Amino acid sequence: MSAIPPPIGLLAELTHRCPLGCPYCSNPVALEKRGDELDTATWQRVMREAAALGVLQLHLSGGEPTARRDLEDILATAAEAGLYSNLITSGVLLDRARLQTLAAAGLNHVQLSIQHAEAEAADRIAHFRGAHARKLALAEQVREAGLALTINAVLHRGNLDAVAEIIALAEQLGAGRLEIAHTQYHGWALRNRAALMPEAAQVEDSRRVVAEARQRLEGRMVIDFVAPDYHATRPKACMGGWGRRFLNISPSGAVLPCHAAETIPGLRFDRVTERSLEAIWYGSEAFNCFRGTAWMPEPCRSCDRREIDWGGCRCQALALTGDAARADPVCALSPDHGVMAAVTAEPAGEALAWRR
Ligand code: SF4
Ligand code: FES
Repeated sequence: MSAIPPPIGLLAELTHRCPLGCPYCSNPVALEKRGDELDTATWQRVMREAAALGVLQLHLSGGEPTARRDLEDILATAAEAGLYSNLITSGVLLDRARLQTLAAAGLNHVQLSIQHAEAEAADRIAHFRGAHARKLALAEQVREAGLALTINAVLHRGNLDAVAEIIALAEQLGAGRLEIAHTQYHGWALRNRAALMPEAAQVEDSRRVVAEARQRLEGRMVIDFVAPDYHATRPKACMGGWGRRFLNISPSGAVLPCHAAETIPGLRFDRVTERSLEAIWYGSEAFNCFRGTAWMPEPCRSCDRREIDWGGCRCQALALTGDAARADPVCALSPDHGVMAAVTAEPAGEALAWRR
């Protein structure tokens, strides 16, 4: 047990309810229902158990976490337990008054999503008229409330050419950090892959724009940029390695090594209503299944990067090869790497399926 480090981060998906309809949503195709969500007292117990387990950072997510009316109660318990809290929000359900009650309950940080730098395009992607204007107003209110602000944008073919404008907007909004990460093709997003997949030239241009902006903004705004895997030759250490640093809890209480883990057939996920978080982290079948390196096939088993990228992403391996236990096909050493070229060579799709 001692060889397994405690987790540092917990992503609490408080609800799958969401007012937006983004086509890149990586939540499951079948969303969990409101009636199945954990109640306030259970989330509060989870917060105390997480802190006792060693978790330092709490990410309150969804869906849209502010759709939960008991968010303040959950936050207050998390703050009492010593967790640093980050609210991941679309912002459209929040106003100044609610933001202030959240701040008073102990909220430390707001991560506000934007869909584009330009209002009409942003509202089209979000499938919510007026969303962009509300987000701009909220960013100002976050700063007024004295909370740290990160702007987050999911990138895809429809907004990758606007990366420079997205960076400029985040700067103008006074964000300390900008996270721009390419769409992860899990859940709902997978069905939109052909329409969301960028051109290789767009990816290259965006790398250049980000590199220049990082130099210009050094010391003022941090830019976290995650380029698309599909144009790479080595995978990323998804989640910092399976069961090594992070855990997710679904709205109904399933404890997951990553947010897409429930797509993997045959894995059983323990629930916070059945066992303690500590028992699940150290002892559950799902966390131990792909933890470390013992599960790895070749070429990962004898590769000198096996404790750097941990074989890449299990859910991506599943989505692209049908087997979660194979090397991530992003890796040029994987016998399945050819599938990446086949996917990126597919004709671009135009029709997007929005979430609602
Ligand atoms: Fe990573 Fe496996 Fe590729 Fe090595 S062979 S770089 S461990 S995915
Ligand atoms: Fe599940 Fe990468 S998203 S391991």
